[in-house]
Amino acid sequence: MVTSTPGPHDNPVNMEIQPASPDIRALTEEVLVVPVFKSETPRDGLIGLLDSLTGGAIADVINSGEFDGSDSQTVFLHRTGELACRRLLLCGAGNQQSLSAAKLSELAGTAVRAIQNTRTKGLAFLARGNGLPANLAQQVVEGVLIGRLSSALYDSSADKPQLERLIVAVEGSEGDRLELAIETGRIMGEATNLARQFGNEPSNVMTPAEMALRTEEIAEREALRVEVLGEPELRQKGFGALLAVSSGSAEPPRLIILDYSPGQHHLPSEQVDEADGEMIALVGKGVTFDSGGISIKPAATMDEMKFDMCGGAAVIGAMQAVARIKPRIRVLGIIPACENMPSGRSYKPGDVVRGLGGQTIEVINTDAEGRLILSDAITYAVQRGASAIIDAATLTGTCVVALGEIRAGVMGTDGRLIEELISAGEQSGERIWRLPLDDRYGEQISSQIADIKNDGGRPAGAITAAMFLKAFAGQTPWAHLDIAGTAWINAAKPFMAKGATGFGVRTLANFVLARANTVIQATVDCD
Ligand code: BES
Ligand code: MN
Ligand code: ZN
Repeated sequence: MVTSTPGPHDNPVNMEIQPASPDIRALTEEVLVVPVFKSETPRDGLIGLLDSLTGGAIADVINSGEFDGSDSQTVFLHRTGELACRRLLLCGAGNQQSLSAAKLSELAGTAVRAIQNTRTKGLAFLARGNGLPANLAQQVVEGVLIGRLSSALYDSSADKPQLERLIVAVEGSEGDRLELAIETGRIMGEATNLARQFGNEPSNVMTPAEMALRTEEIAEREALRVEVLGEPELRQKGFGALLAVSSGSAEPPRLIILDYSPGQHHLPSEQVDEADGEMIALVGKGVTFDSGGISIKPAATMDEMKFDMCGGAAVIGAMQAVARIKPRIRVLGIIPACENMPSGRSYKPGDVVRGLGGQTIEVINTDAEGRLILSDAITYAVQRGASAIIDAATLTGTCVVALGEIRAGVMGTDGRLIEELISAGEQSGERIWRLPLDDRYGEQISSQIADIKNDGGRPAGAITAAMFLKAFAGQTPWAHLDIAGTAWINAAKPFMAKGATGFGVRTLANFVLARANTVIQATVDCD
């Protein structure tokens, strides 16, 4: 059985990360990484210094035309002259003005992937660019951790990561100021990788039950409360939409509930629910395999539908980050997990199902299953008293057509929530674009036989999917991230292996952190 092969489950990140002062002569690791901007010449500042320490090696490389500082270029220098490192890795950083912190993270990933097959154990990274030194250091750590993760989980011939030690220095900043930034970078990088590992697992391993089990382990380790509802409880409580989607599968469904409350671990969840104050609910689609069900998908790229739980994985990753950073705000993570399969017990086109809140839903297409399971999860979040709900889901092929793999779509009922998500995304290097949600789109999902139907036809498919979700959020401010195009990549990037990207983890975590700070701010202002 594949399950017994050591997967990422048994592959914790064990890398030592230390800050250092930015004296290039003193950075002694095997490989020293230096970003080089496009406009720089071997006479300028740091690059000039490097050139003279290496006896003109930088000028040789630039004059050869092999390297001009363009994005994702890399070149190794082995004769490092008076430098203490054994090899120098120059990485193209593009235009100096446009090097955001997020782009630095990708550059760090590119550097790590460039040394992947060189058995390098120690790397020193000299961060440069616009922005606060702490921010730059954080991005380097995130990028290195993300770049270091392979997706060849079950390829016994694949190389194991060799890198054991990372030294981070920032041009113009002393190392002792970078410790917190490095810790934050590690938390964000590990949370992103956790979501990627969940996503990359094949669906015969990452079943709803396995997803729940692994989440319980994480919760125990991170001191998060966790509750898992199995099929009997879901039936008893009335999660009719989730159960309908799951009905064709031999794998039983789960509802996974993670609960973070600042400093109240000893109290039962329900008691904490009753306290006033903000409670954010993060809801993630956890379809561990989406065959389409009776409305079955074509065979061509159906294997990619193992990634249909990436929204759920993003929520689990974000909850791990939140549990480690400990902001002063209550957060629930809610993951409806199931498989969508055809069988004699499957739900069928034309069926009418009743969701948790009592609404009736006409099923036009069993492949529009994500919105069904999310409708029950959103209803559950409303019932728990969430003050804001954000869902993340690989929801529609239409969103992929509209925005490709570059941006996720965001839609919702609350402008402020949407703005906050977009800026949390910018901070994280995750691009998000708002799509409209006019009431008129609702006409496409009105049913003759039930309260609502689950397919609005081809026009504006990403929007009508969101309109469906909106019907279950009631008066609670709600926003929806359609990550269908951004949750995985089918070819490797210079900075990331192919497979799940962990998209959403950092945006959701940064959103929560920003909300928590606003809450504190508001309290201070009132005093
Ligand atoms: N999981 C898919 C959406 C998807 C498709 C994500 C391709 C990533 C790549 C979702 O469950 C789905 O099948 N959506 C249908 C909805 C339609 C039947 C109304 C779609 O987008 O085609
Ligand atoms: Mn589907
Ligand atoms: Zn799906």
